[in-house]
Amino acid sequence: MIPSDANLHPKFKRRAFLHTAALAPSASVLGMAGLAVSAEGQQDHPLTLSKPRVDLAHLPTPLEELPRLTKRLGGPRLLVKRDDQTGLALGGNKVRKLEFLVAQANAEGADTLVTSGSIQSNHCRQTAAAAARIGLRCVLLLGGKNPGGTSEGNLLLDRLLGAEVRFGEQTLEDVAKTLRAAGRRPYVIPIGGSNAVGATGYVAAMEELSDQLKQRSDNVDWIVVPTGSGGTQSGLAVGARSLGFAGKILGIGVGEPADETKQRLTPIANTTARHLNLSERFKPDDFEVNSDFLGGGYGVMGDLERKTIRMVAETEGLLLDPVYTGRAFGGLVELTKKGFFRKEETVLFWHTGGMPELFVSEYAGSLL
Ligand SMILES: Cc1ncc(COP(=O)(O)O)c(C=O)c1O
Repeated sequence: MIPSDANLHPKFKRRAFLHTAALAPSASVLGMAGLAVSAEGQQDHPLTLSKPRVDLAHLPTPLEELPRLTKRLGGPRLLVKRDDQTGLALGGNKVRKLEFLVAQANAEGADTLVTSGSIQSNHCRQTAAAAARIGLRCVLLLGGKNPGGTSEGNLLLDRLLGAEVRFGEQTLEDVAKTLRAAGRRPYVIPIGGSNAVGATGYVAAMEELSDQLKQRSDNVDWIVVPTGSGGTQSGLAVGARSLGFAGKILGIGVGEPADETKQRLTPIANTTARHLNLSERFKPDDFEVNSDFLGGGYGVMGDLERKTIRMVAETEGLLLDPVYTGRAFGGLVELTKKGFFRKEETVLFWHTGGMPELFVSEYAGSLL
């Protein structure tokens, strides 16, 4: 389906036209050099152009060197892809997924976005922000009990952004049913936005990265990224395979053993590839996942995260979060110490955001 221009920000309109003219390219034969360059010098993103998308994110996000950390760790050259700077209400990886999810919600005539997550879910905060930005309502179903007292971090922002916050045992489908019965038109987004539509945002992100690397005549050997619900790594994997990216993608698990994470990634990647009419198919062993850094479990900040957050902040002025990026960067540091990466390699850390969690007293109280 070619998106109607009405749904599209001007930055996508011309590209949609180009795509219409070219029809869906066979991505597997595009290769990294196959990305078309438009007359304005902008590069086109053929893998994802056929899908409706709304403009929510500040893109492309910066690709930066980390020279002081590279020197301090004495390992491979380090780069960072700044998806903490996607722009919408403190940014993060979910904004990329929501560009496609919200477009789908609009296409279905929805008036309310419904999703769920933990009390400090970054995904929920970004969904609330996307709803506010587009003029939809938002209902968030948060796990656990209402903490009461002063709202902190993402929960504070959810409420500030006008979302209706619910707690308890209901399922997302229960919430959607009640809304429908009340005459509303809900669009249900799964946890983390990790389905084929959402993961398309990370196929597009991989296209964006390949443009940036090509423009700089640069290359990366590894992408290191935190992995939770899996849409980010799955989307990157689909994009990487379709574009012929030669580097490896290493997901650092934040909550589950590596085997379970690979099982989770596989169907997301396969449905995403199908959604985009790509021929690539994945098996669990096609993914690299390391879950050696789970420490006390999901959301429990330990010494690894604490030390890493402080070191990266002091050394590069770069903020990480206690749950995802602090753990994943901690894994990168530990793997560097063990010689997992070769010194002549380049490792790109994909920063996925999450900083509002730094200000939650549970974490802030033991960071310093
Ligand atoms: C800051 C941050 N990084 C990484 C992730 C993991 O992304 P995914 O759920 O797509 O695996 C999340 C998910 O909530 C997140 O909030």
